Amino acid sequence: MYDLEDAVLSRRSTRLFLRDKPVPQDVVTEALELAVRAPSNSNIQPWRVVFASGPARGRLVEALLEEADKGDPQVPPLPAEFAHFRRDLGATLYGSMGVARHDAEARRIAVRRNWEFFRAPLAAVVCMHRDLGYADALGVGMFLQTFMLALTARGVGSCVQVSIAGYPDVIREQLGVAEDMRILCGVSIGYPDRDFPANSLDVPRSPLADNVTFLDG
Ligand SMILES: Cc1cc2nc3c(=O)[nH]c(=O)nc-3n(C[C@H](O)[C@H](O)[C@H](O)COP(=O)(O)O)c2cc1C
Repeated sequence: MYDLEDAVLSRRSTRLFLRDKPVPQDVVTEALELAVRAPSNSNIQPWRVVFASGPARGRLVEALLEEADKGDPQVPPLPAEFAHFRRDLGATLYGSMGVARHDAEARRIAVRRNWEFFRAPLAAVVCMHRDLGYADALGVGMFLQTFMLALTARGVGSCVQVSIAGYPDVIREQLGVAEDMRILCGVSIGYPDRDFPANSLDVPRSPLADNVTFLDG
């Protein structure tokens, strides 16, 4: 079993999974039992998660790909001052996949893998009641990080995907998500393909001083 620091440091967003190696249900349940220990506002436990595997996952992917071929997802644009983060990540990520900077078609193919859950045998969609707010979204985030760390400690990879929330109607129809639920993101879950270089990418972080202030006196 990993200790916490090992799990934090070895978790990576996995963007290619072993298609034919399902995650045992007891492993997922164990990770979820740990994840629900996350704190939340008034102990509301605002996370709602729908998992799809097997034919249910297949139907979801088929419907998402069909929609992706029709038009772009409804993902809010990044404010201009943050756009450089996406550019930097794109350069690092697609570079590691061997996609040239201006090769729009190769990029499109790589991005399209989002809607295939990167071949993960287990797809999850994370929701929260639409009347809850930012404080509750924090609780969902804490649940998700705990879930992913618990999966990491069990050798299971994951990737959070806001891109999945870009086609809410498809998700609602395929997974029966009610109208009073806000769809926050997807999560791909499975065993990482260790031969895929982008899976071992160490995406850099900003220096602490960029984001954290200590006041004393
Ligand atoms: C809320 C959220 C949404 C994300 N959406 C996507 C996504 O749609 N597609 C994707 O490939 N990665 C997505 N990611 C993964 C981030 O790109 C990744 O966490 C970040 O670049 C840091 O890399 P690391 O997770 O490997 O440490 C998302 C992560 C979070 C937390």
